[in-house]
Amino acid sequence: MNSMASNETNRVRVELGQRSYDIVIGPGLLQRAGEFLQPLKLGKRGIIITDSNVAPLYAEQLREALKRAGYETEVLDLPAGETSKSLRQANRLFEKLPALHVDRQSFVIALGGGVVGDLAGFVAAAYLRGLALIQMPTSLLAQVDSSVGGKTGVNLPQGKNLVGSFYQPRLVLADTETLKTLPERELRSGFAEVIKDGAIRDAEFFAWLERERANVLSLEPAAVAHVVRRCCELKAEIVSADERESGIRAFLNFGHTIGHAMEALSDYVGLLHGEAIAMGMCCAAHLSVKRAGLAPAEAGRIEQLLKASGLPTRLGDKYDIDDLFEAMRLDKKSRNGKVWFVLLKRLGEAVVSDAITDEDVKEVVDVCR
Ligand SMILES: NC(=O)c1ccc[n+]([C@@H]2O[C@H](COP(=O)([O-])OP(=O)(O)OC[C@H]3O[C@@H](n4cnc5c(N)ncnc54)[C@H](O)[C@@H]3O)[C@@H](O)[C@H]2O)c1
Ligand SMILES: [Zn+2]
Repeated sequence: MNSMASNETNRVRVELGQRSYDIVIGPGLLQRAGEFLQPLKLGKRGIIITDSNVAPLYAEQLREALKRAGYETEVLDLPAGETSKSLRQANRLFEKLPALHVDRQSFVIALGGGVVGDLAGFVAAAYLRGLALIQMPTSLLAQVDSSVGGKTGVNLPQGKNLVGSFYQPRLVLADTETLKTLPERELRSGFAEVIKDGAIRDAEFFAWLERERANVLSLEPAAVAHVVRRCCELKAEIVSADERESGIRAFLNFGHTIGHAMEALSDYVGLLHGEAIAMGMCCAAHLSVKRAGLAPAEAGRIEQLLKASGLPTRLGDKYDIDDLFEAMRLDKKSRNGKVWFVLLKRLGEAVVSDAITDEDVKEVVDVCR
């Protein structure tokens, strides 16, 4: 493992021409937020959007830190949970902004997990045709995945993320210390995206995860710093090459075709995003053996690492196959009515396939029950 001091701050650059930005990773960044905002030359007025779990833990601390640097901020919070990623909550926020004297120089800080990041990002993208956005991810999933890359949006009852836009943040500040208060089940859920990154892009990192999993999940500082940095590097590279997902960015959807369908069928209640994609990755790994030449032993390693990380790998009897098909067709992962899958040729090398038949899917879902 990389011998980095655990209190060190790391920077990863997302190269997107004029819209390039830094991801700053390290402990204690919340208290230092002002110093990182200063070079962005924002206005003095900001809105901190957060949720009902994160607000009592960190909102005041952040507000104070920004006040010391001369920024005036207001905190708006949402009920915690995926159901807040809705047009209703977005509208609630839009309607509060005029009275708070938000103008085009004002900025939005998304302080929280992926739900807050996606929703606040959507609000920032649309209000006054775009306010400066700072992502301050506090969940593992948000630090390794959702805060980077500019996908923002909300769900509809018919499916996840059906309304939204690409809108890059000006800065991502990932304070790794905030992970200490994250419930363990949420930590494991975020770890599913970490495993995904290794599986699609970096076999060496995957092998590192197999060895260091316990240190990451017990939040050993150097292990966490390494994971967040490596995942951000991988995502930054992918997003720089393909911001709008016309090519390799689609690889990030490994496990998400069936995963999103399961989330939609559970109405986003009782099943966390990472848990859904853990099961989705198992199905996709089996499909990869069948259709993309993945060695069965490598599919076994994926399943084993997910299981060892306390993630679900079996679908059980809960999901009817026809309901899954219907949900998959409604998801964004269908093109001209055909559902597509991300498959692995080998660990670290992904491909997109739209040649998967319903029979193939039926078969692997049966294997994964
Ligand atoms: N935009 C993208 O590219 C992208 C990528 C992956 C996932 N996502 C989206 O991200 C969402 C999932 O994100 P998530 O897993 O972070 O969910 P989340 O935002 O619901 O956060 C998980 C839970 O942890 C709580 N929490 C967050 N940080 C905490 C902390 N430091 N201490 C204590 N509690 C804390 C939250 O209140 C919530 O209850 C999904 O909607 C998914 O679609 C988006
Ligand atoms: Zn995901």
